This record gives sequence, structure tokens and C-alpha cells, in this order.
Amino acid sequence: MLREYWYKEAIIYCLNVDYFLDSNGDGTGDFEGLIKRLDYLNKLGITCIWLLPFYNSPRRDDGYDVADYYGINPLAGNFGDFVQLIRLARERGIRVIIDLVVNHTSDQHYWFQSARKDKESPFRNYYVWCKEKPADADEGVSFPGYQKSTWTYDEEAGEYYYHAFYEFQPDLNFSNPKVREEVCKMMGFWLQLGVSGFRVDAAPFLIAKKGLQEKPSQDDQYQYLEELRQFLSVYEGDAIMLAEANVSPDQLAQFFGEDNRMQMLFNFTLNQRLMLALARQEIAPIIQGFEETPVAPPSAHWANFLRNHDELSLDKLSHEERQEVFNAFGPEKEMQIYGRGIRRRLAPMLNGDPQRLELAYSLLFSLPGTPVIRYGEEIGMGDDLSRKERDSIRTPMQWSNSPNGGFSVAPADKLCSPVISEGQYSYEKVNVASQHSNPESLLGRIARMTSARRECVELSLGKIEFLDTGNPAVLLQRSEWEGNVTFTINNLSDKKATIEIERQEFKDTFVLDLLSDKEYKAIEKGHSSVELEGYGYRWFRLGRDSF
Ligand code: GLC
Repeated sequence: MLREYWYKEAIIYCLNVDYFLDSNGDGTGDFEGLIKRLDYLNKLGITCIWLLPFYNSPRRDDGYDVADYYGINPLAGNFGDFVQLIRLARERGIRVIIDLVVNHTSDQHYWFQSARKDKESPFRNYYVWCKEKPADADEGVSFPGYQKSTWTYDEEAGEYYYHAFYEFQPDLNFSNPKVREEVCKMMGFWLQLGVSGFRVDAAPFLIAKKGLQEKPSQDDQYQYLEELRQFLSVYEGDAIMLAEANVSPDQLAQFFGEDNRMQMLFNFTLNQRLMLALARQEIAPIIQGFEETPVAPPSAHWANFLRNHDELSLDKLSHEERQEVFNAFGPEKEMQIYGRGIRRRLAPMLNGDPQRLELAYSLLFSLPGTPVIRYGEEIGMGDDLSRKERDSIRTPMQWSNSPNGGFSVAPADKLCSPVISEGQYSYEKVNVASQHSNPESLLGRIARMTSARRECVELSLGKIEFLDTGNPAVLLQRSEWEGNVTFTINNLSDKKATIEIERQEFKDTFVLDLLSDKEYKAIEKGHSSVELEGYGYRWFRLGRDSF
């Protein structure tokens, strides 16, 4: 069978250039720094980098307020550096995708500057205006507590403009064909520079057709995603769009369409259920998460994650379920945000328990769907709750125990964001250098997981079944593709467990121990009993290619 879809077998690593490595000592990370760490990423086993916004921007929303789609933040570098990155990454088999932030621009973008000044400006209709403040303007804000309204009056324009997010992010008007053309032109530009696709920011907002007097039918909205896909396939056949669409499960299939819209969607449904499962130490919510999400069409694929760069949104859980996750992983008010989420990194949420952290990553790397990890997760970085909103988890990468965690030689007060320098997660205690050569460290374990996942293509492409173990805390997954079978077993509970794998194939064949949390006694042929430590995990492979 052909293995034509690279993204189904990918392992994605998401990073913000600003926070990764500063090569010139100005206090902000840059492309040159990232290039220096490509071999580190290669060794970690990732195959695709997702770059968070690095465009010219006032950076009032961490770069999600773009002032120029054709410009690179000068602190990050220039186009020469960017193209070098693409080339050197490709030489290592690593692709690069970038954030496509087109639902809105920064209010500093020249389109908006011109639009607000002059009703006759060619850019006026790039945005969404209204003479009167709509009655529902203050409902449904994206950042409750930090955003007052979705319509703000602009003195210069003499009208209200629409913004789904912060007031400095005016929404673009996608019912204007000119805006659509601008987006394609800009995507084409970055594709020519060698990117392998885009993470589509705020996809449901993008297609909401704001600005039309007569609201189109629901189905109509999604047409635009087809237009984008069509453009992409003509321009660069294997480039992808990976959409951020945290919508209710019954709307998700629309984003895939008839295999003609988004190639990938982040699985927010599973993410929320997975956190509930970890909190309860029970697998049922994970199974529910898979049942709730539609099957991806042939060329499409889900992307799984534990934590992203935003709050851990728990908005799709019931009030009680959300409370359970809050109680387990973010009990203090300062750990919570927007009434729906947690603004902590994973390691502190799991109390820094190495066993439990490994178990969480064993789940991520064995479940069906492309795994996405975020910089710093691989070493168990912590958060800084003294920083505002989601900035708590946007601190510089901790490379070593040198000043500023080896991130930058600039004075600490010149850094783009303070390094975590106190407590259990300080750079002196948690850093790459101290884990680098230790296979038992989180970094070492995650590197083994990525390599095992890449070795077992059935985990990426195979037919997946969850088998009953009789133990509500143990997830037994069977993945098969082209005669190869992998059994992955994850124990969500802190208690030891023994399960029987009631499958003849498991007893009949040689079983290769691929990966486990500790060294267990090997399974003898004819036996089916598998022991697991609390938070233990074991991966086995049988079949033609398992040696
Ligand atoms: C997305 C981004 C988030 C940003 C928002 C507005 O949700 O992930 O960080 O604030 O869009 O662009």
C-alpha cells in the first residue's frame, strides 16, 4: 500500500522562534538560534516544525496580531535566515509549517490604517464595519475578563469594527473577494519559500462570513475552505492545512468536508476528554472522545496534543467534568483562565511526577492521530503564573544551567520573556543539558517514543481497535497495517495492574518488547499475561517486520 500522506506519519514540534534560542545576544530568540538546534530536534525524532507567528507584529497577542504578512520580525532574523532554516531542516528530513493568521490583522496593518482613515480607501471593505453597535456585541467574547466586546468604536473611522478577539485585532471581511485573493497570494508566497503548509488559526471564525447583511446558510460557510484547498493543491500538491477548530463534535466533519477541505484538524474533543481521563485515572473518557469525533476522510488526519500554546481549554466538558479537571490539575484561581481553561504547563499539572508524565506521552505517541508536542514539553518545563494570561506558559526554552538557562547571553532584564529561575521548574533544575545523555530522563524517554512510533507505521496508518481488559484504568490498543501489529498498553492509574491479552496472535508469535516504563520480564511465547506498574506502559510488536 502506498504511504503517500507525509503528515499522517509526522511528529510535529511547535515552537516560537522568540523563545527558542537567541544567537546574537539581543534577548530574543531568532532563526539562527533555531538553526543551531536543528540537530537537537532531529535527534528528538520530530519530523515537522510548526512555527508560531514570526511576522512583523506589535506582538500584543504573541504575534497573532500580524502587521505585515510579507515581513519577518527583525528580531527573529530576515528572509535569508528563514530560507536557510527551510533548507537545513529539509536536509534533515524535517518539514516546516507556519501559522496562517488571517481571520484578523493587527490594527497597525496598513490595510486597517488606511481603512479607518478614509471611507473611500480601497481597504475599507477589507474589514467589517457597522454604524451602530450591534445589540449582541458584548456577548460571546473570546477572552472573557480581558475583552469587553466584539465591536469597538473607532474614532477615526467614525464606525464600529468587528473583532472576534482582542480589540487590536480587527477581523478581515472574507465576503470581499479581494481579501480572499490577498490570502491566496500570501500563502503562495510562503509556499514558494518552501513551507509544507499552514496551521490555520481560528478557522471557525475565519469562515463565519461576518459582514454580510444576509447571513448565508451554515453549509455555505465551509465553501471557503474548499477554495483554499483547491488553491493549495494546485500550488503545492503535498502542502497541508492543519486547522484550529475547537467546535462542537457535530460540526467537525464539515471542516474535513468530502475530503476536500482541511487535511488536518487538531483534536480538541479528544484533548479535553484525555485530560478528564488522566484526572479520573480511567480510560472511558478517551474512548468517548474517539466515539465523538468523526472518522477523517482518506486524505485527512487528526492531530493530537496534550498542551498547546494557549490555555488548556475545557469548554466542551460539562460543568461537573470541567470542575473535576480543575480540581485535579488547576485547583487555584490563578491557574484558571477565561472561566474555561487552565494556564499551566503539563508537568506542573501532573505534579512533576515523572512516571505520570511519561504515561501521558506514551498515550500521546501511541494513540491514532499525528502527535504534536510543544517546545519544552520534552524536558518537563514549568510555568510562571506571575505572567499575564497565557504568557504563563510562554517562557524561554531551558537549555542548560548557565545564566538565562542558556537561552540568551543578554542581561536578564533584556529578555523577551523572563526565564523560569525559581522553584522546582527553574532552569537550574529542568534543562536539556542535564537530560541530554540520560536515556531514563523525560527527554530520553520521549526520544524513544518518537523513534518507536516512526518504526511502527501501523500506529500512524493502521486500523486501530481498543480491546477490553476488564480494568477501567488500562487502555489496550491494537494497531494493524500490512501484516504488522502493535499492542500498546497504558495504565492511567497509580496502582499496579495485570491484564490478559486474549488474542491468539499474541500467544502464537514472538512478541518484541518495543518500549516500556521500566524493564519487565519478557513475555514468553504462549503467555498472555502482562504486568504493569502504576502509570506503567508497554508497547509490543508482532508480525512480519518485528524482527
Ligand atoms: C488562536 C491562537 C491564539 C490567539 C487567537 C487569536 O486561538 O491560538 O493564541 O490568541 O487565535 O489570533
